[in-house]
Amino acid sequence: MSPEPLLAVSGLVKSFGGLVVLDGVNFHVMPGEILGLVGPNGSGKTTCINVITGLYKPQAGSITYRGRAVGGLPSHRLVHLGINRTFQVPKPFLPLTVRQNVEVAAAYGRPDDLAVDIDALLASVGLDGHAGKPAAALNSIQQKMLDLARALATGPRLLCVDELAAGLNPAELDGVAQKLRDLARGGMGLLVVEHLMGFIDQVTDRVIVLNAGREIFEGVLAEAVRDRQVVDVFLGTDHDD
Ligand SMILES: Nc1ncnc2c1ncn2[C@@H]1O[C@H](COP(=O)(O)OP(=O)(O)O)[C@@H](O)[C@H]1O
Ligand SMILES: [Mg+2]
Repeated sequence: MSPEPLLAVSGLVKSFGGLVVLDGVNFHVMPGEILGLVGPNGSGKTTCINVITGLYKPQAGSITYRGRAVGGLPSHRLVHLGINRTFQVPKPFLPLTVRQNVEVAAAYGRPDDLAVDIDALLASVGLDGHAGKPAAALNSIQQKMLDLARALATGPRLLCVDELAAGLNPAELDGVAQKLRDLARGGMGLLVVEHLMGFIDQVTDRVIVLNAGREIFEGVLAEAVRDRQVVDVFLGTDHDD
């Protein structure tokens, strides 16, 4: 018997007004797997995470997490079930310290009363030495790392990561890649949205390529870059600059 997916989405649809942003998206994430979600700007990657994590309700389709239908549940319920995410543009509580930001997440986001070792968590994302600073004093990359620490403080089994690597230097990229691989090795499933293909190559087991709200490829990145449709979407007339 094949193991049960951690997350399975099927026929996911979300539109804003007349704009269909997710047009019947299907994929799954296994426990311990890192699935990359790539695609041009505006292809629906963030919206996909927003729907899976309860910011928006799906208009059609199903979201199954550990065998349970969770589509449309609010974010705080999903966090307690073990689904959390980082944001493309993090919004920490700016006047609170770095430590307090993580404490709030741990206090409200965990389904159990297990103590979180906040110092170890901050050290694991490179924020040791910053714990007492207000979040407002962090640069944008440090705020992304705080966002990751905040998500991890809730003890997720499924973590969706939205463009965490943008702006990191090579050493920082290696550190974050290592961190995500370590999390997956511990059994967590990860959905990783990223534009940096080197990073995607380094961390993912498999990728889905989205274009205009539909998946046009599913498989390993090495094959995606040889796929005609994928190449056209990234290099053809469809790029958005
Ligand atoms: N809350 C929203 N209201 C209206 N349109 C939105 C909203 N969120 C996303 N969109 C639109 O949906 C499309 C996909 O956006 P997004 O999911 O952010 O793409 P990606 O993350 O792949 O760049 C874009 O055209 C975007 O403008
Ligand atoms: Mg996005």
